[in-house]
Amino acid sequence: MSDIILQTEDLTKEFRGFVAVQGVNLSVRRHSIHALIGPNGAGKTTCFNLLTKFLIPTRGRITYDGRDITSMKPAEVARLGLIRSFQISAVFPHLTVLENVRVALQRERGASFDFWRSETVLDRYNRRAEELLEDVGLTDYATLQAGQLPYGRKRALEIATTLAMDPQMMLLDEPTAGMTHEDVDRIVALIRRVSKGRTVLLVEHNLKVVEGLCDVITVLTRGQVLAEGDYASVSRNPEVQAAYLGTDPASVGVPEGASHG
Ligand SMILES: Nc1ncnc2c1ncn2[C@@H]1O[C@H](COP(=O)(O)OP(=O)(O)O)[C@@H](O)[C@H]1O
Ligand SMILES: [Mg+2]
Repeated sequence: MSDIILQTEDLTKEFRGFVAVQGVNLSVRRHSIHALIGPNGAGKTTCFNLLTKFLIPTRGRITYDGRDITSMKPAEVARLGLIRSFQISAVFPHLTVLENVRVALQRERGASFDFWRSETVLDRYNRRAEELLEDVGLTDYATLQAGQLPYGRKRALEIATTLAMDPQMMLLDEPTAGMTHEDVDRIVALIRRVSKGRTVLLVEHNLKVVEGLCDVITVLTRGQVLAEGDYASVSRNPEVQAAYLGTDPASVGVPEGASHG
């Protein structure tokens, strides 16, 4: 079993001649928490979309757990255990919090062919769903409609539905975006807890979160890797400092999506 669970070689994505991701070589260590950071428009989300196969690379290779996944479909990659939160795990607003997790558990089993099942199996789902709610601190919200959850708790539910699929590696795109301080602290503790025995790759703008949570940080600018290392070395790097110049280092980055076209 290799120490590197995810590797990209020369990963490149062009949109009509515009190079959004350029020759990225990324190595993510098994059981690490790895952050992808960089100014708005650096190519972080595009990288995620390439890794989860929502986008097809223009060039390059992606290896996951010893397998070349470059030309696989999103569902195949998810089945291998590489799961992105907030995309595959949509939250159904009219179902309760508990029902949302139960649906995710049933989907993980590929339930379509055995939709009628024994009480024992359903009981097992209920127990597992309750465990997952406890893991993410949502026990008290179990019977609430998911749509009624406060924002931070909704993100916790998304993490629970992702965990229901028992991912070997989780990709989280800005898990703390738009959260209050209190919610941020809770999600950080949650990510740390659920990362035990898994690998986590996250895009995160909040550098305090990155500092406290991540083992390795890769800095992207204009689609390319600018620096990589632990927080101390990356934050000391003059090129990294220059890339962030003029922005508040405690909350680098502007809300996403403004520049897409
Ligand atoms: N589907 C697309 N078509 C054209 N350009 C895109 C598309 N998606 C992203 N881009 C461009 O690629 C660059 C990187 O975007 P993105 O990966 O979203 O950056 P980040 O997540 O780091 O903010 C941006 O300049 C963005 O406008
Ligand atoms: Mg983004």
